[in-house]
Amino acid sequence: MAKTEVKTSLLDNMIGVGDMVLLEPLNEDTFIDNLRKRFDHNEVYTYIGSVLVSVNPYRSLPIYSPEKVEEYRNRNFYELSPHIYALSDEVYRSLRDQDKDQCILITGESGAGKTEASKLVMSYIAAVCGKGAEVNQVKEQLLQSNPVLEAFGNAKTVRNDNSSRFGKYMDIEFNFKGDPLGGVISNYLLEKSRVVKQPRGERNFHVFYQLLAGASEELLNKLKLKRDVSRYNYLSLDSATVNGMDDAANFRTVRNAMQIVGFLDHEAQSVLEVVATVLKLGNIEFKPDSRVNGLDESKIKDKNELKEICELTGIDQSVLERAFSFRTVEAKQEKVSTTLNVAQAYYARDALAKNLYSRLFSWLVNRINESIKAQTKVRKKVMGVLDIYGFEIFEDNSFEQFIINYCNEKLQQIFIELTLKEEQEEYIQEDIEWTHINYFNNTIICDLIENNTNGILAMLDEECLRPGIVTDETFLEKLNQVCATHQHFESRMSKCSRFLNDTSLPHSCFRIQHYAGKVLYQVEGFVDKNNDLLYRDLSQAMWKTSQPLIKSLFPEGNPAKINLKRPPTAGSQFKASVATLMKNLQTKNPNYIRCIKPNDKKAAYIFSETLVRHQVRYLGLLENVRVRRAGYAFRQAYGPCLERYKMLCKQTWPHWKGPARSGVEALLNELEIPVEEYSFGKSKIFIRNPRTLFKLEDLRKQRLEDLATLIQKIYRGWKCRTHFLLMRKSQIVIAAWYRRYAQQKWYQKTKSSALVIQSYIRGWKARKLLRELKHQKRCEEAVTTIAAYWHGTQVRREYRKFFRAYAGKKIYEFTLQRIVQNYFLDMKNKMPSLSPIDKNWPSRPYLFLDSTHKELKRIFHLWRCKKYRDQFTDQQKLIYEEKLEASELFKDKKALYPSSVGQPFQGPYLAINENPKYKKLKDAIEEKIIIAEIVNKINRANGKSTSRIFLLTNNNLLLADQKSGQIKSEVPLVDVTKVSMSSQNDGFFAIHLKEGSEAASKGDFLFSSDHLIEMATKLYRTTLSQTKQKLNIEISDEFLVQFRKDKVCVKFIQGSQNNGSVPMCKRKNNRLLEVAVP
Ligand SMILES: Nc1ncnc2c1ncn2[C@@H]1O[C@H](COP(=O)(O)OP(=O)(O)O)[C@@H](O)[C@H]1O
Ligand SMILES: [Mg+2]
Repeated sequence: MAKTEVKTSLLDNMIGVGDMVLLEPLNEDTFIDNLRKRFDHNEVYTYIGSVLVSVNPYRSLPIYSPEKVEEYRNRNFYELSPHIYALSDEVYRSLRDQDKDQCILITGESGAGKTEASKLVMSYIAAVCGKGAEVNQVKEQLLQSNPVLEAFGNAKTVRNDNSSRFGKYMDIEFNFKGDPLGGVISNYLLEKSRVVKQPRGERNFHVFYQLLAGASEELLNKLKLKRDVSRYNYLSLDSATVNGMDDAANFRTVRNAMQIVGFLDHEAQSVLEVVATVLKLGNIEFKPDSRVNGLDESKIKDKNELKEICELTGIDQSVLERAFSFRTVEAKQEKVSTTLNVAQAYYARDALAKNLYSRLFSWLVNRINESIKAQTKVRKKVMGVLDIYGFEIFEDNSFEQFIINYCNEKLQQIFIELTLKEEQEEYIQEDIEWTHINYFNNTIICDLIENNTNGILAMLDEECLRPGIVTDETFLEKLNQVCATHQHFESRMSKCSRFLNDTSLPHSCFRIQHYAGKVLYQVEGFVDKNNDLLYRDLSQAMWKTSQPLIKSLFPEGNPAKINLKRPPTAGSQFKASVATLMKNLQTKNPNYIRCIKPNDKKAAYIFSETLVRHQVRYLGLLENVRVRRAGYAFRQAYGPCLERYKMLCKQTWPHWKGPARSGVEALLNELEIPVEEYSFGKSKIFIRNPRTLFKLEDLRKQRLEDLATLIQKIYRGWKCRTHFLLMRKSQIVIAAWYRRYAQQKWYQKTKSSALVIQSYIRGWKARKLLRELKHQKRCEEAVTTIAAYWHGTQVRREYRKFFRAYAGKKIYEFTLQRIVQNYFLDMKNKMPSLSPIDKNWPSRPYLFLDSTHKELKRIFHLWRCKKYRDQFTDQQKLIYEEKLEASELFKDKKALYPSSVGQPFQGPYLAINENPKYKKLKDAIEEKIIIAEIVNKINRANGKSTSRIFLLTNNNLLLADQKSGQIKSEVPLVDVTKVSMSSQNDGFFAIHLKEGSEAASKGDFLFSSDHLIEMATKLYRTTLSQTKQKLNIEISDEFLVQFRKDKVCVKFIQGSQNNGSVPMCKRKNNRLLEVAVP
């Protein structure tokens, strides 16, 4: 897995330099510039070798996510950009893998980010160390101890809204696997003066505000508190709320944390009761009260508050009241009670409040320790995290600042000692020549403070224990005598008169030149604070409480254990605990986080150069770099070094077969780096000058670009080729599949075609066979049938004569012949006469002879008609011909016809030849006369008729006067176009003439004759024989006749019987000639 990880380095993508050791040139300005540059780019961490410098960003940066934790987990320290996680990981892994106890020393000014850093370390360790239910519980308890201690030990100061007002050192214990087992917390000197008084703009400890803001009404009632900050004298009002801090929510967090850490309900309750008691103590006020003997006395103004405190703590009110009024001093078995004046009473009250609170705090730490202590007795590995208050310089610096700064001085000392020692040890270990370098050693300052005979703390203790009047001034005097010659001690009134004229140094002060700067201490309060006196009456009163927690806080109040020895002073206590701490730290491998505060405004993005410069100076960071660089600026194990730079040399690239050290040697030789620039240690290469390293880096960067191009080239080639091969392979596969598919298709098609053809052929063959078989079968059947018939016929023919049925037929035929014979013989005798008009005919003897009988009758009739006709002469034949013609023309058409049948046609009725009257007429006519008859010519004008002789010759039609025989009109037959007549029984007829002919000038003729049928027939026949044209004979009861110029309609009507049987002709009007027919 590690193999596949990309090897990176702190040197990659560096802003400024990630490690100050590489700074070139190295001076204060470049150092600060580098810090600023990194700060501006959100890089708040920078290394000085293995020391982490952290600049407080004052805003949350996205660099503490779980992903970041994973990123830094199990990575080498210089592999990634500087981070607190890198340091934490390094520490944790050293602890786990190298079996060496570790400690992390976090130093810096108040507000520089120490507490945050310690929390980040803890959270990182918690995230990467072992898992499991039990381990998780331990982790939770360790982490949750923080909110509890912060609530009781932190407060808002002008420097920091969440300033730790106590020093904290926490040992986290692990088993051999690296799983956390538990922890031990040590606390150092809580700033208890804050309980009763806070500087302007600052707050009391968080817990007071949290309680008032977050407690339920019920809880407040129980604690006899009001939710009103302004009611309590110990709480500062001007900054009761802090921006961005939700006291109520924090209160719930704290209660929850207490529960997780393992506080029992009644314990938590008692803790809050103590907090309430402290608050209420501040509200007890005193007034002067004069007694008879004239001594100053005080009296409690309002006893209500006292009463409530007593109810809350279970102390007898009178006992507490007395304790606030008297002070009992015991000397040599004698008890002397003196009254307290108002100021003393207030002093006593505040002393009680401070003690109560600070003892409660210590109790809390112990209680937490009880919960988080490791349960097993197995050997533990320990990681210590020290978050101690930073170096403090205020306007008014008092005992607390003195103590705090002393502690920092000690830490600086151990820092110098250990850093140097470590560096030296490394050179010895690596067999490198080492030259000593100068640095400021602050042992001398430590000595000034802690020296047992003439140290300031010793002087203070001495003053406190000295009988007689002891004040802060006497203490200062003593210092002025003892420390006057010390280089780092300054006082106006010191024996040596160096500072006599130094006006910046007030009379009641002394100044110490700390490693981090000069600090002016107000001597006022030193003695009191060092004594840390609580009147015995008060501790005894407190011991009498019914509340077990408070009782346990004041063990010296137990009368049975009266100890006349003074308790150790605060100063000596602190000195002792610092000494223990130092001893503890010295046994461990130290790791440093040096916090720097970028500005005084608690603001993000502001980098105050002067402020940072000051811190850089007193933290001795530059010296740190110098020490680190004294010998060699950069060192790296051979393996990683070769890995990082092997591409710079042909021999080592891409793989070096031999040991890493000789690889590095070959590399440096090839690069022609001067030999004085580096040294070979046992496991590391030491590079003297950062420039050399940067040169290496530059070369590497250049080479990496070339390599990247090369890799890119090879990769692209490889990719293209792989792609091509894949495509080709795919193409082959596709082609194969396609061919297979096509072949399959083709085969299937061929196969099915073959099948179709096959089936057709088989069908055809089968049908052919079937046809043949059928034919054969039919032939056989036919042959059989024919043979059968043939045989049948043969047989019948042969045997017919023997059949009876045949005899019947013969008899029948014979009988029939006889009957017919008899019929004909009989008929011969019965024949009727030969007259064609004889209708007789013998009856038919047999029904079956009906048709024969009729045929016979017809034949006979035809025969006798022929016989009859054969008798006619030519004359007679002609007459009958004419009659026949008339019959054809008029039969069934003209009602007059039947009456004409019996009349023989005579033609020339008038015997013109004989009558002399007509001699002239006869001469005029040369041709043969066919008709000569008298007709009535109808007058066209009135319908009256006139008799005329009508003559028809072969070519002409002649009309002549009946009397004179004079020819009236002559019409050639060719001019006759039509003959019209009625269908009725009259003799009227009209002869129409050809229009335009000469004869037609007088108009058509209208006649009436008794022999109309004969005349019409003869006219027809003559016209036909002469002109070869059939004369048109129109038979109609209404026809038009041309009279001169008019056309007149001749209409035949059924006339009345009145006029007899003669038709009447009458001209009706111009157009109509009516003929009434009887
Ligand atoms: N790493 C950090 N990231 C963001 N803010 C920080 C960081 N360190 C410190 N701070 C801010 O600075 C304030 C002071 O830090 P703190 O650790 O309490 O200072 P110290 O303990 O040194 O007095 C914190 O309350 C927080 O707002
Ligand atoms: Mg802090």
